[in-house]
Amino acid sequence: MAVSSKLTGAVLLTLVAAALLHFFTRKLQQTSPETQPRQCVMSPPETQPRQCVMSPDRRFDCGRDRVLSRGACEQRACCYSPLTNSSRAPWCFYPHGYPGYTMAGLTPTHRGQAATLTRDKPSYLPGDVPTLHLQETRESAGCLRLTLKDPWARRYEVDLPSGVPQGKAAAQDALYAVKYQTEPFGFVVTRKSNGRVLMNTTVAPLLFSDQYLQLSTSLASSLVSGLGEHYTSLILDLNWTSLTLWNRDMAPHAHANLYGSHPFYMVQEEDGLAHGVFLLNSNAIEVILQPLPALTWVSTGGILDLYIFMGPDPQTVLRQYLQVIGYPMMPPYWSLGFHLCRWGYTSTNVTRRVVQRMHDANLPMDVQWNDLDYAAKSRVFTFDPVRFKDIKDMAEEFHQKGLKYILILDPGISTTSPPGTYQPFDDGLKRDVFIKNATGHLLIGKVWPGPTAFPDFTNPETRHWWEDCIRTFYAQVPVDGLWIDMNEPSSFVSGSLEGCPDTDVENPPYTPRVIGGRLNSGTLCMSAQQKLSTHYNLHNMYGLTEAFATYSALVKVRRKRPFVLSRSSFPSIGRFSGVWTGDVRSDWEQLRYSIPSVLGFSLLGAPLVGADICGFQGNTTEELCTRWMQLGAFYPFMRNHNDRQYASQEPYVFGQKAQAAMRIALNLRYSLLPFLYTLFHHAHTSGDAVARPLFMEFPADPNSQIIDRQFLWGSSLLISPVLEEGAVEVLAYLPPCTWYSLHNLFVIYPLIRVSLFIAKVSSWFCQLL
Ligand code: NOJ
Repeated sequence: MAVSSKLTGAVLLTLVAAALLHFFTRKLQQTSPETQPRQCVMSPPETQPRQCVMSPDRRFDCGRDRVLSRGACEQRACCYSPLTNSSRAPWCFYPHGYPGYTMAGLTPTHRGQAATLTRDKPSYLPGDVPTLHLQETRESAGCLRLTLKDPWARRYEVDLPSGVPQGKAAAQDALYAVKYQTEPFGFVVTRKSNGRVLMNTTVAPLLFSDQYLQLSTSLASSLVSGLGEHYTSLILDLNWTSLTLWNRDMAPHAHANLYGSHPFYMVQEEDGLAHGVFLLNSNAIEVILQPLPALTWVSTGGILDLYIFMGPDPQTVLRQYLQVIGYPMMPPYWSLGFHLCRWGYTSTNVTRRVVQRMHDANLPMDVQWNDLDYAAKSRVFTFDPVRFKDIKDMAEEFHQKGLKYILILDPGISTTSPPGTYQPFDDGLKRDVFIKNATGHLLIGKVWPGPTAFPDFTNPETRHWWEDCIRTFYAQVPVDGLWIDMNEPSSFVSGSLEGCPDTDVENPPYTPRVIGGRLNSGTLCMSAQQKLSTHYNLHNMYGLTEAFATYSALVKVRRKRPFVLSRSSFPSIGRFSGVWTGDVRSDWEQLRYSIPSVLGFSLLGAPLVGADICGFQGNTTEELCTRWMQLGAFYPFMRNHNDRQYASQEPYVFGQKAQAAMRIALNLRYSLLPFLYTLFHHAHTSGDAVARPLFMEFPADPNSQIIDRQFLWGSSLLISPVLEEGAVEVLAYLPPCTWYSLHNLFVIYPLIRVSLFIAKVSSWFCQLL
């Protein structure tokens, strides 16, 4: 109590100080809050019209699309009021009651109701859609769907492979109630059981133009997770954070759009209840989080297709989400063992030696990998004729030893081999499987092999061609799974070798904050043509469509449960593939952030996930690598992978003590594999999470709500790893429960709930050192 009243005092003081500062300061000029150099000058307080008077937290940015001066802001009929240095709130914001759409009467439909929305005055955006069709659908008692689209013109809509059928529910059983504000249009979703407002979109106007769709809502609490893939803590920072969803080949770091895009968030309500919201939209999206708490979606295209999941608890929210995007695939048992990889195993003999040294050191492993080294001149579906000439023999030897073997496949197909010498390209050209540029010619980008064409996996013929390529490949090397990399898709030239045309999709009226500044940075032209639509609409789904094609091909070719690992992701990826968190650095911060990254994917329906153990880029150290192997033993997907130019990090290269610690961690994982496999079965059949944040099991425990340095396997195995350099102890939090040590089964914390184990990873390492 003392702490919380002190805190309240501090907050009050800060507010008073901020109000005084606000009163006496004005800004010279307004630009966007994050980019603005904030110079303060003393000037008299300004008088705001009544509809502009609101606290900074309540401001919704009227200039998200561009930097606005006072004049330009007022031209939009928005409020302009500079703030002090300390606030990141916008200076140009919507007044109360800003005009938007008007809703006509609701009419009942089969499983909900519908209405027409019209806009009398144009917004400030080009290409307004003046009429919208609103459809409210009761998907189930706990799932509401609200769709807004143009009734007169067909716009691009995401077509996900269908999810799991949900139970039908009568209106009176619904866990939610929806109320509409007709002018300006907005809706409020409440939880029936306690009347809590979960969404309220009347806080700011709805905008719906051809390339700019915006919807804001208040949030029921500040405990928001999801919206991956970003380098963040599990609970997102709501202090005017902008998160961009735009798949990009980018080593994980803060404030960057990374490999995957998942427009889904989960909110923990304060009393342990939870709900989730999914915007089914694959265009470039920016999500703005503000401390009110509130959230704004801005998408550059498509339609607004929102699913609201009522839970009422976090695990049920996840299940409801998975009923829409599909339950995760069941991985093969062996894929839960230890995987060893490196870019730089330059020949079959080098690769064999790695396996032999693991064996000699008595270190368990299940899967040996080869990176692009195996391919002749980095061209996928080929083999280096000298260094990998006996790749088939090697794969078979591994199989005889009980090991599995995995190879990488990039989507880019080299275009420069002489005709008749590279079947994947020749055949692909004939079958017209590649993405075209705006003029209908082959779009050529650049990846490892040089100039490359990119298969269009939205085309069924491409999927057949891909299957044929995999079949021929498999006949040459009996791989057990495929690793699909560079599938954002990544290109080393932006757009194409010939650049991109100057069109609205290349230069949209608004571009979310993306690395490189343009949507085509490090990828293809937005005007590129795919079978289903433009790359502008489909970019975020490239990896998903490739994963689907690869999974389906493996089923047909191998007739066994497939294993696919993908770097790029979008909702539904977990149905076909595992994911890894990309090119992480070998340092302690990245070790620590790997936990929220892994948990993030768990909440997004991709439970088979792990980070590159010991780090991919940079030289690891013995201590870091040991700690990372100990933590990695509890990643659902456990792979040690390293870049070409850095120090070796296979477990056997380290000293005896470190090796012993790693061996213990590996053996512990192996002893728990039946349990892990069972968890995956539950994920596959019921949508349960495998690696779980503590809040999933202890949703009403305030400490558990925010922890992301510890996590659970299933409901009861708590993992509290060492994450700091030099540490030999861990200060672990034990949620209210009876906990037993995994090592000796002693009750170590007798409280209310019975739980099975606690795994104190720390103790093995410190005993051994
Ligand atoms: C980028 C991937 O992220 C990395 O894991 C891989 O080793 C390289 N590409 C080379 O294929």
